[in-house]
Amino acid sequence: MTTTPLAHRATTAAARATDLSKVYGQGETQVVALDRVSVDFRQSEFTAIMGPSGSGKSTLMHCVAGLDTFSSGSVRIGETELGTLKDKQLTQLRRDKIGFIFQAFNLLPTLTALENITLPMDIAGRKADQQWLQTVIDMVGLRDRLSHRPTQLSGGQQQRVAVARALASRPEIIFGDEPTGNLDSRSGAEVLGFLRNSVRELGQTVVMVTHDPVAASYADRVIFLADGRIVNEMLHPTADGVLDQMKAFDAKGRTS
Ligand SMILES: Nc1ncnc2c1ncn2[C@@H]1O[C@H](COP(=O)(O)OP(=O)(O)O)[C@@H](O)[C@H]1O
Ligand SMILES: [Mg+2]
Repeated sequence: MTTTPLAHRATTAAARATDLSKVYGQGETQVVALDRVSVDFRQSEFTAIMGPSGSGKSTLMHCVAGLDTFSSGSVRIGETELGTLKDKQLTQLRRDKIGFIFQAFNLLPTLTALENITLPMDIAGRKADQQWLQTVIDMVGLRDRLSHRPTQLSGGQQQRVAVARALASRPEIIFGDEPTGNLDSRSGAEVLGFLRNSVRELGQTVVMVTHDPVAASYADRVIFLADGRIVNEMLHPTADGVLDQMKAFDAKGRTS
């Protein structure tokens, strides 16, 4: 476990937030959900975003992924500044460059597993790269479940479909918001293993919000948020190391 300052390193960023702020509401009800956050998500790296409830994890993910607008600062996906895009272009960028995995799976119930996996490409009118698609299907172990519908699959299998769907179009970056939040620990470990393999073996870039130190330990790097700011970063995290860090924040929160 190594803790380093938040220096920009000399590798390419798949996504970058610079002085990113997000304010909800006005006047007395105003909430600063993100307070000038600057962070790089480097290519072929698995980053976990951690922090207490309400610290801004989902807001950060949603702003960087183009799912939400921000109040100030800038966000780049690859070479594209999100702030310069019109709604339609933003939708297109999300579709073409970003994969999503949500806590609630978000599969279409009337479609088979295979149809769910290829849906984003079908909507975009793009042909799947068959060889890649087969690689992804085998990696998540869904070969014998492709014609099943979501209700015929366990939660873990459904999330594997969602992982395959995210990987299938080879997006620039995959975002997961608590992707193991609805899974038992064994299914969760499987999904985390697939995400880690997609980074190690396929060069995918993954950013995952989680509150689980064990989930975070699958990542190459953990960034810690508190009150809308990045307060620490940990490389090569272990579950115990992450847990200690969270306890330290809790203790500090109680005395300040
Ligand atoms: N739509 C919203 N309207 C007002 N406040 C919001 C909204 N979404 C989030 N917030 C507030 O922004 C802060 C950060 O929320 P969030 O990013 O969801 O935190 P986390 O994912 O870390 O639990 C919290 O104080 C939350 O109450
Ligand atoms: Mg959240």
